[in-house]
Amino acid sequence: MKAVVLVGGEGTRLRPLTSTTPKPLLPIAGRPLVERQLLWLAAHGVDEVVLSLGYLPDAFVEHFPGNEFASMRLIYAVEQEPLGTAGAIRFAAEQAGIEERFVVCNGDVLTTLDLRAFVEFHLEHGAAATIHLSQVVDPSALGVVPTYDDGEVKAFIEKPAAGTAPSNWINAGTYVLEPEVLERIPPALATSIERETFPRLLEDRGRLYALATDDYWLDVGTPEKYLEAHADVLGGRIGSSPVPDAREEAPGVWVQGDVDLASEASLEAPVLIGEGVAVAAGARVAGSAIGAGSSVGPDAVVDRSVLLTGVRLARGALVRESILGIDAVVEEGASVLDFSIVGAGANVPAGTTLTGDRVPVAAPAG
Ligand code: GDD
Ligand code: MG
Repeated sequence: MKAVVLVGGEGTRLRPLTSTTPKPLLPIAGRPLVERQLLWLAAHGVDEVVLSLGYLPDAFVEHFPGNEFASMRLIYAVEQEPLGTAGAIRFAAEQAGIEERFVVCNGDVLTTLDLRAFVEFHLEHGAAATIHLSQVVDPSALGVVPTYDDGEVKAFIEKPAAGTAPSNWINAGTYVLEPEVLERIPPALATSIERETFPRLLEDRGRLYALATDDYWLDVGTPEKYLEAHADVLGGRIGSSPVPDAREEAPGVWVQGDVDLASEASLEAPVLIGEGVAVAAGARVAGSAIGAGSSVGPDAVVDRSVLLTGVRLARGALVRESILGIDAVVEEGASVLDFSIVGAGANVPAGTTLTGDRVPVAAPAG
């Protein structure tokens, strides 16, 4: 079975992390989001994946040398202009010569959906397209999909105004499509599958179905969700070990490779400590992932946060519910709080406090 994975978006809500790294290549507990998704596809029998690219495409090509991952063939379809979700699917299918039934995934989703059972449901209903649904508390930032009892879709309402959604079952961003759906998408035009293709499919009865499941599901689109994804992966809600090369040194304390952890440092599960990380005496790391080569200075605190690689926290720094980009530095006594994001190489000066702030990527030296 072939799959198209949509990874061409700019990841605007995760800037400035996504200024330098496309969202699907951001690590979730030490492993890029797209790798987690590709492993899920491979585990359900997908053998060829078309990566639908637009934003920072070279980063993907460099990340997957040899056009292969998890024994699946990888094909790159690079758009010159963003084609929207439907335009991107049609373009990717044409580039890869897809003429049969195939799977599509939004490239920012983590799920444990049983893809084989999902395809089975699609076949049983003779649908042209089938959408995976997940239930959420607030559907206003998602696509809302009310259905009839047998799963036939009644309506597709993308991003309804708060309080107006007729259901809290939402489009979870995995589809099975028959090739006839491709013919309904205009070629080389920006088109949205959510706002145009699916609503138009509903003009004929019996073509669009949805399967609602209670599998694990998360759209990793915002800083809050990025941190939630870490908590879930580290908490064992998706698989037992967050990354295959991590060892569990105490319950929920995962360590990769050689590290330098002071005996007077406190590690509170769940945590993932990457290769080459140093944690100094008096420091406290709780519910967080510390990327390879980072250092946590004396008496510094990292709480429910993510440090990408090579981050440096000086003495007494405090990072809470925030994300620090590659090689970011937090100077002595500075605080980074409440869903702040510090861009790659940026510096948070001593004594400052960031609350829900975004610090841009450092300008290149010279
Ligand atoms: N190639 C390509 N070209 N990819 C694109 C484009 C494009 O023009 N636009 C968006 N994408 C990719 C993004 O990279 C992402 O992986 C996926 O399409 C969905 O885009 P998002 O920007 O993340 O959309 P969303 O989260 O607001 O809403 C979508 O996902 C929700 C579930 O995760 C919709 O499909 C909603 O209906 C859905 O509920
Ligand atoms: Mg999304």
